[in-house]
Amino acid sequence: MAKLIDGKAIAAQIRDEVAQETQALKSCGVTPGLAVVLVGEDPASCTYVRNKQKACADAGIYAEQITLPATTTQEELLRVVQELNARADIHGILCQLPLPAHLDDKAVIAAISPEKDVDAFHAVNVGHILIGDEGFQPCTPAGVMEMLTRSGIAVEGKSCVVIGRSNIVGKPMAMLLLHANGTVTICHSRTVDLAAVCRGADILVAAIGKAKFVTADMVKPGAVVIDVGINRDENGKLCGDVDFAAVEPIAGAITPVPGGVGPMTIAMLLKNTLTAAHRQTGK
Ligand code: GUN
Repeated sequence: MAKLIDGKAIAAQIRDEVAQETQALKSCGVTPGLAVVLVGEDPASCTYVRNKQKACADAGIYAEQITLPATTTQEELLRVVQELNARADIHGILCQLPLPAHLDDKAVIAAISPEKDVDAFHAVNVGHILIGDEGFQPCTPAGVMEMLTRSGIAVEGKSCVVIGRSNIVGKPMAMLLLHANGTVTICHSRTVDLAAVCRGADILVAAIGKAKFVTADMVKPGAVVIDVGINRDENGKLCGDVDFAAVEPIAGAITPVPGGVGPMTIAMLLKNTLTAAHRQTGK
């Protein structure tokens, strides 16, 4: 039986810490502000944005949602971002991805002021992550690192395998594990004998976006298995990238879905927004 890594409980702890720090900042006359831009009505995105807003409100952070129709043009969206860049009461800006197909997400991310880029998707912040500078940490990978740290799981010297090479999770995840002195391998759809590579992992991070992709034969007994996926299974039930029922008996520790990495991502967004407010106000 694997130890269950309770992301919900760890995230609650971080959210409490952020709420306390937010109170302290407010007593210096600064309310941290986050703008969340949502284009269109993708149901999953609507849920994520609602959860982010509620978490902000609970922590005492001002959150403003800008909802734009799916027909919004690139120019209109860029104008909205530029207006938010110029506002002193908004310290963090995030544009929920994916954007409708006619919009260029790279150009939108590039338009967000790096100081307000609480997702850490801007090339400047990606560069900071790569060279190990103090900057914003991308929310999901940073959340995974916090989970490991707060669960007493050391990364140093461990074989870490990340499945998935997205700009949002896979690539930055690999960097953070590397900075923590892990020996890191990134696997993807073209990897030869993916199962064998995964079986070598002491810490296996699944971020592929395919329901129950990681099966028991891909996991070394005792390995730490971190599931970043949020999918629906054949019955429409929420599930991760890991076949939890099959892998849990083999793993040493495992994150559930829901209640694992998901809540951590939001907690880290709050933390980044607070950091942004500190940096921009000097308070
Ligand atoms: N879509 C899925 N995950 C994320 C995220 O962390 N940030 C943004 N902006 N969009 C996402």
